[in-house]
Amino acid sequence: MKIIIATKNEGKVREFRNLLTPLGYEPVSLKDEGIDAEIDEDGETFEENAHIKAREIHRLTGLPVIADDSGLEVEFLGGAPGIYSARYAGEGATDEERNQKLLDEMQGVDLPLRNARFVCALYCILDGKREYCVTGTLDGFIGEEPKGGHGFGYDPIFMIDGDTSLAELDEEEKNKISHRANAMKKLLDALKNE
Ligand code: IMP
Repeated sequence: MKIIIATKNEGKVREFRNLLTPLGYEPVSLKDEGIDAEIDEDGETFEENAHIKAREIHRLTGLPVIADDSGLEVEFLGGAPGIYSARYAGEGATDEERNQKLLDEMQGVDLPLRNARFVCALYCILDGKREYCVTGTLDGFIGEEPKGGHGFGYDPIFMIDGDTSLAELDEEEKNKISHRANAMKKLLDALKNE
């Protein structure tokens, strides 16, 4: 069964392809289907934003679809940047600028107050009757400075233990523990029972 992975990120499509093909699905990207939709992500939660994307792509294609939304929540900042993670330092800013802004906000904040978590919501619509929403997280804390050259986004300032940042793990290691991997495991469990 063909299933659209509603993301422009080819890395995410590859991850889904590896996991879903053994279950008999044929994951395809938006690009494969020639879809170039600009969707307003104006929900208030990761789950709502994933739902908005999934609903729109399902409406356009009539095909099964999986959409995701993810970001970083910092406890000391009341959950910011949260759903605004991609735009935290304004439109067009770089990962480095976003990381620096967050480090500036956290300057002088003691270790016990630096807790953070990555969140990934996945919304899957198989047809008009069967829909699934799952959420995966990864707990850690915000470091004092960027470390490591793998990954993307906030990985260099996200510490998974006392001295390792997420950007110090290679792709395979990150994929074993990430918020996205945890959400995918939950979705796969649901789809296995289909
Ligand atoms: P999106 O869900 O792909 O739109 O991601 C939203 C934003 O959250 C990204 O632009 C990153 O800034 C951040 N983000 C999401 N997942 C990760 C991750 O695994 N590592 C680092 N940053 C992430």
